[in-house]
Amino acid sequence: MLDRYKREISYLRISVTDRCNLRCHYCMPEKDPALLKHSDILTFEEIQQVVSVAVPLGITKIRLTGGEPLVRKDIIKLVSMIADVEGVEDIAMTTNATMLEKFAVPLAKAGLHRINISLDTMDADNFRLITRGGDIHKVFRGIAAAKEAGLHPIKINCVVKGDDRQGAEKVREFGLREGLEVRFISEMDLQTGHFGIVEGGSGGDCRQCNRLRLTSNGKMKPCLFSDLEYDIRELGIEKAIEMALVNKPAKGTVNMMNAFHNIGG
Ligand code: 5AD
Ligand code: SF4
Repeated sequence: MLDRYKREISYLRISVTDRCNLRCHYCMPEKDPALLKHSDILTFEEIQQVVSVAVPLGITKIRLTGGEPLVRKDIIKLVSMIADVEGVEDIAMTTNATMLEKFAVPLAKAGLHRINISLDTMDADNFRLITRGGDIHKVFRGIAAAKEAGLHPIKINCVVKGDDRQGAEKVREFGLREGLEVRFISEMDLQTGHFGIVEGGSGGDCRQCNRLRLTSNGKMKPCLFSDLEYDIRELGIEKAIEMALVNKPAKGTVNMMNAFHNIGG
């Protein structure tokens, strides 16, 4: 489907939860953020329904994000329900990988093709600081499991702090060693509209943007850097997609309503 700027929209990013087992500074407030009520969060049937409606309109590629998608109960079941929808060509996930060791094989079996892993540093202490308590060794075990499970390609998302070029260089070397694609992302700020092009990725270049986003409580959003959203429960799925499509802005400005943990980066 084409938006009004003739961009072909083929990619739907679905946030399956606003919860996460880490607390990265740039994404989550330290104290528990105001989390959604469980009853507001889309059921698997609703998510599958959205995919079933979106595919005939031109969506071929699905990405599951969070929060942390692997904390959503029965996530494997959801992956297989999405894989069952005819016309879905590609299913990906963005994860912090701390729980991937046990999930990698079941995810691959359920139909997940590829995976993006967030890793900003190779240093265990620094990782603990950035994530407010995370264990980097779990991430390494998760990456090993993903390779073993045949999830391919494995991409690393590395958010670079202005002053930590050296840390980023170590992640680059790790990627080269392990055969992982590393993409460097500058820290974004939704409220000030500060965003940049993802080096080696498709994000940030508004002219090329091919995506819509679905929040975990069922709002279809045409743009990460915009307050526009269309509730699939109020409007119906087809209408919400159509509204998001025709109102997709030429370029992003600011988003005062969402935080990364509920929109999925
Ligand atoms: N700036 C840039 N990227 C972010 N992410 C989360 N918050 C931010 C932010 N403020 C990205 C992380 C992670 C993904 C889930 O979202 O890179 O890989
Ligand atoms: Fe969790 Fe990812 Fe946000 Fe970090 S960036 S708090 S791992 S959702």
